[in-house]
Amino acid sequence: MNNATEVMHAKNISLSEDLSKVVIIDQTQLPNRLVYVEVDELEDCWKAIHTLQVRGAPAIGIFAGYALYVLSRKYQYLPYDSFKERFDHDAEYLNTSRPTAVNLFWATDRMKKLVAASKDLPVPAIVEKVCQEAKKIHQEDIDMCLKISEYGLSLLKEGEGVLTHCNAGPLATSRYGTAIGPMLLGKERGINVRVYSDETRPLLQGARLTSYELQKAGVDVTLICDNMASIVMKNGWVDKVFLGCDRIAANGDFANKIGTSGVAILAKYYGIPFYSLGPSSTIDFNCPTGKEIEIELRDPDEIKNKWYAEPMALPDVKCYNPAFDVTDHELLTGIITEKGIVYPPFEENLKKLFNK
Ligand code: MRU
Repeated sequence: MNNATEVMHAKNISLSEDLSKVVIIDQTQLPNRLVYVEVDELEDCWKAIHTLQVRGAPAIGIFAGYALYVLSRKYQYLPYDSFKERFDHDAEYLNTSRPTAVNLFWATDRMKKLVAASKDLPVPAIVEKVCQEAKKIHQEDIDMCLKISEYGLSLLKEGEGVLTHCNAGPLATSRYGTAIGPMLLGKERGINVRVYSDETRPLLQGARLTSYELQKAGVDVTLICDNMASIVMKNGWVDKVFLGCDRIAANGDFANKIGTSGVAILAKYYGIPFYSLGPSSTIDFNCPTGKEIEIELRDPDEIKNKWYAEPMALPDVKCYNPAFDVTDHELLTGIITEKGIVYPPFEENLKKLFNK
């Protein structure tokens, strides 16, 4: 195994050997400590998502699938109606952990539908089906990420510079990642690019996770502060922008980590192609435009205190901490999905590609 392959095969989400717990890499501890955490209680599963121990839109969906399985094992001896009521309750509760990434709702909805359609089976058999479905969601994500990485790599040439924001690598997905996948796949195949990783204030996913994954994989990565994206573009060091997405609306507007829309505006100014990479589980055809996407607001403490030895702002200063922003589809060059690269007009071409 070379370094890139090793990074892609780290198990960020799995079931414990006895199947009773979900095991995750606690992403809040990286890059300083590689800590695995086991969860099997509803509240702990909710917290794992809310506190970003598990994060990244596809990873949240995969985790939710396994979490519902582990939780449902505990009440598999209830009669069907009570079982279903409890299952739906747990799914709805997990849905309240974070509002923006559609993959969470997509996964819990898929699980709820499976339980609703299995009414005639004994409950333990339904729980077994839930387990298989969770594994299927995981495998599908691995497959989709590989295809996305292939399409992304087809756009890259040896020696090119790619800027990315936040983390859309293996930790945020399953194996290859979406926006980071092309660079990891390229590394495996001897195609080398230079990556600029925005640190991604305030939670530093770019610094803590993206530069960690790429450095470990042996990819040429340079960490920059978010406000340095303009200078590296102006210097002519960036040929493409590749980043992930948390929800793509039917018209191509998409939510991604706060700061993404600023990067898109810069890329437009400097004439740099700007791509969002995401699996079909991130496309929300029920959401007509970006205006309808709920943006998560997080604790001001993440800006004022979190990373510092002492507070960096007065305790009573007003603070606005949106976790995501919406990038207008007009700023996008293309959306890279597992089915191909979608170009404008996005509304029409997304529908065509996904038969909607
Ligand atoms: O708040 P986070 O860290 O969960 O935000 C993650 C992102 O914005 C990612 O870019 C997105 O989920 C895509 S991951 C393939």
